[in-house]
Amino acid sequence: MSTLTETTFKRIAEIARRRWGLSLGERKMQLVANRLSSHLRKNGGGEIEDFVQRLDKNPTEEDMLVLFDLLSTNVTSFFRDPAHFAHLERELYTPLAKGTLSVPGRKLRLWSAACSTGAEPYSLAMQALELLPPSSGFDVKILATDLSNKALAGCREATYNEAQLTGLSPERRARFFTKVEVPKGTAAAVTETRWRVKDEVRKLVEIRRQNLVENYTGLGPFDVIFLRNVMIYFDRDTRHEVVMRMHGVMRPGGILAVGSAETLSGLDVPLRPAAASVYVR
Ligand SMILES: C[S@@+](CC[C@H](N)C(=O)[O-])C[C@H]1O[C@@H](n2cnc3c(N)ncnc32)[C@H](O)[C@@H]1O
Repeated sequence: MSTLTETTFKRIAEIARRRWGLSLGERKMQLVANRLSSHLRKNGGGEIEDFVQRLDKNPTEEDMLVLFDLLSTNVTSFFRDPAHFAHLERELYTPLAKGTLSVPGRKLRLWSAACSTGAEPYSLAMQALELLPPSSGFDVKILATDLSNKALAGCREATYNEAQLTGLSPERRARFFTKVEVPKGTAAAVTETRWRVKDEVRKLVEIRRQNLVENYTGLGPFDVIFLRNVMIYFDRDTRHEVVMRMHGVMRPGGILAVGSAETLSGLDVPLRPAAASVYVR
């Protein structure tokens, strides 16, 4: 197995911090070594040192995205942290439907800001269809962004296996998904059953690449931002910088949800807490 020296790990950690805001503590060294070795094994072999030297000398954006994918985690699920969806129902959808709250031009804009393979933006779209159907006259759009190639490809494909649908009610599965048989791996004769998100849901979601630590030109303003389970990978300064950027693209009264294990407490940001891990501009 190819080895990772402390110097090379530090070099990788420096790239990850500068480019993506990721904070790779020394505890992550073994994990990074395992992921890099496994990547190199699957791609014809080679030494970690050479791989990193290549990134240092002549980095292409694509090489960097390969490294990003190796360092990041895409764990996600449909309707994760149900309290956030309950909050949206109570504080946003119900008042909008009753007419006690309004949005300019009846346009509702949501952003899933680290969307991973799509469970989060598609959950937002399903909830919007349930609570503000097209007949309500609202124009709802969800922007789904991530940096990872793997995540964006999964999001675009929008096809999930049985295990990835855990947590979805039978009603939602029946209403919003179509069962499909797709070739498994390279053996076209062997298929697996997967569940494809229906077009009705997909057409509410626009998928784009966005690095959260780069500028947000052309984004917003948003009524809702889900920035969940990504700040745990950032150090304090990066968290502050990212939340301030989010604030800049939120409408007054807009809602920001962070992961249930995340908090903005200790960050000096102009957002007020509205519920556990939910903030309002
Ligand atoms: C654990 S997933 C969270 C997915 C979803 N938000 C959820 O809570 O289920 C973290 C995601 O953050 C993305 N991510 C990490 N750093 C990022 C950055 N600097 N810019 C954009 N996305 C980033 C990763 O690619 C990954 O898909």
